[in-house]
Amino acid sequence: MTDVAQRWNPIHGEPYRPVPYRPERMPAAESVARAAELRRRMDQRRTVRRFAPDPVPPEVVRDAIVCAGTAPSGAHQQPWTFVLVRDQEVRRLIRDAAEHEERVSYDGRLGEEWLAALRPLGTDGVKTHLTDAPALIVVFQQRYWVGADGARHKHYYVDESVGIAVGMLLTALHLSGLAALVHTPSPMGFLREVLGRPANEKAFAVIPVGYPAADCEVPGLVRKSLDQVLVEI
Ligand SMILES: Cc1cc2nc3c(=O)[nH]c(=O)nc-3n(C[C@H](O)[C@H](O)[C@H](O)COP(=O)(O)O)c2cc1C
Repeated sequence: MTDVAQRWNPIHGEPYRPVPYRPERMPAAESVARAAELRRRMDQRRTVRRFAPDPVPPEVVRDAIVCAGTAPSGAHQQPWTFVLVRDQEVRRLIRDAAEHEERVSYDGRLGEEWLAALRPLGTDGVKTHLTDAPALIVVFQQRYWVGADGARHKHYYVDESVGIAVGMLLTALHLSGLAALVHTPSPMGFLREVLGRPANEKAFAVIPVGYPAADCEVPGLVRKSLDQVLVEI
């Protein structure tokens, strides 16, 4: 559990210190009901690319980031940083830099195969969501950490850990009533520079957060059915 009064410190090299873990077991019938309800609510999540300018409650976003931080991570190294950008000028800087890269991408850098994959989504090099959404969460991976002695230490399973944390972030935002988009401008090295992040951090995604615009549309997509994704042995 995350006790706000308790701050994390590196445990690298420390001995194993077990604590009891005895969560109350949920009756099966309640599990079944909750799973069905969660499935119904999660199926309503959609990637939103057109946002209303209305502000979002900052505490909802911060709580969603706390939820993301409960994700499992390789060796519990929690190799993530979430930069919450509400400042309009900084969002504009990010949009300008992202659109510069995206224009080159859509004008040919992506190649026909990639462009064909994107065509059903209706996306292009114009990224209004970066300035329309009232908040951006820029997620960085910490590729390594630096000890008190200045030595670099490896982080393990960084891609997997940050990917899981972002999944939990999206779930928390959705279940709290906010819409989001995972935007991965390619390349996105400019984000470290614009946001003044240290050399061990690499941008993972920009996640605009807000409410869908009144005239928001999303691509009509079908999700794989259970029998298309599940193998039971
Ligand atoms: C790793 C990752 C990168 C993505 N990058 C982009 C992106 O750069 N721009 C964009 O518009 N959508 C992006 N998306 C959103 C996907 O296009 C979207 O999740 C997919 O089309 C399914 O739609 P849904 O989220 O509404 O179910 C990305 C999603 C993921 C998981």
